[in-house]
Amino acid sequence: MQVLRGAAEPISGEKLAVHLALSRAAVWKRINRLKAQGYAIEGSPRRGYRLLTIPDKLLPEEVLQGLKARRLMGPMHHYETLDSTNDLAKELGSRGAPEGTVVVAETQTRGRGRLGREWESPPGVGLYVSVVLRPMLPPMELPQITLTTAVAVVRAVRRVTGLAPGIKWPNDLILSGKKLGGILTEMESESDRIRYLVVGLGLNVNNPEFPPGLKDLATSLALEAGRPFSRVNLLQAWLEEFEGLYERFLHQGFPEILEAWKRHTVTLGKKVTVRQGPREIQGQAEDVAPDGALLIRVANGEVLRVTSGEITPGPAEDPGA
Ligand code: BTN
Repeated sequence: MQVLRGAAEPISGEKLAVHLALSRAAVWKRINRLKAQGYAIEGSPRRGYRLLTIPDKLLPEEVLQGLKARRLMGPMHHYETLDSTNDLAKELGSRGAPEGTVVVAETQTRGRGRLGREWESPPGVGLYVSVVLRPMLPPMELPQITLTTAVAVVRAVRRVTGLAPGIKWPNDLILSGKKLGGILTEMESESDRIRYLVVGLGLNVNNPEFPPGLKDLATSLALEAGRPFSRVNLLQAWLEEFEGLYERFLHQGFPEILEAWKRHTVTLGKKVTVRQGPREIQGQAEDVAPDGALLIRVANGEVLRVTSGEITPGPAEDPGA
């Protein structure tokens, strides 16, 4: 693949065979496999093979190409369709997959969001990716990793698109007041140690539209910018940014990352309602504690710690008041 990618002129089957130390028949098979993956390769019996176009897919060959990451560098598993990349990553994690294992799908049939919601995952337009991590940390540090992942998404999106999403606590990505992406962190732990955790990112990249029920709630990078973006570049940027922040978190702790999270958040300083199942808390989102919990000042002046739940703006001001 590399050799075809770099070549201005067609390369003969014979040359490819020598270069790859394969038989001519094996070269032909490999070319056919690449074509089946969506690479457009022109082959003429006299001149040889020429790469015309690369498919708009999150193929490992493309993502790993030029990826500046060490820890989050695969093994990378790519699927056309999966139920949920988090489900497969958890299965791989439970079978001992190493830290940095990445699972990517072009579409998910049962993509999952936080709080048991569904994650709309139409084919070929979004990022649906899960990473297996094995930090030597106690389970109570999970919320901090969760916030860290969101900072990495903001940085990656900025780097690739110039757009600047905000973060809604804990890790929803928001653009123009609508949801751009979200992160589902799941872990398997013993009482004092995380065995493995899976960080799953869903990012609306090139979605041209959303179904009626989501139209007013969701947006994509392409809708905001008026042009499409490379999902490969976005995935590479997220893996790189996340690796940098994750290593900083492991070695230097959370304070600096929390400051970065606070610079990007759209939640603090606002009146909010937190829904936790049947329970509802209303108040002012004042701060985030060093462990990642949201601190809400309620009507009686007390400050409550919130570690889970769905935040919505409001309660709406009473216009007559
Ligand atoms: C949320 O905002 O509720 C979190 C959404 C997380 C969706 C991603 S898509 C990739 C990974 N696989 C899943 O099933 N969910 C996460």
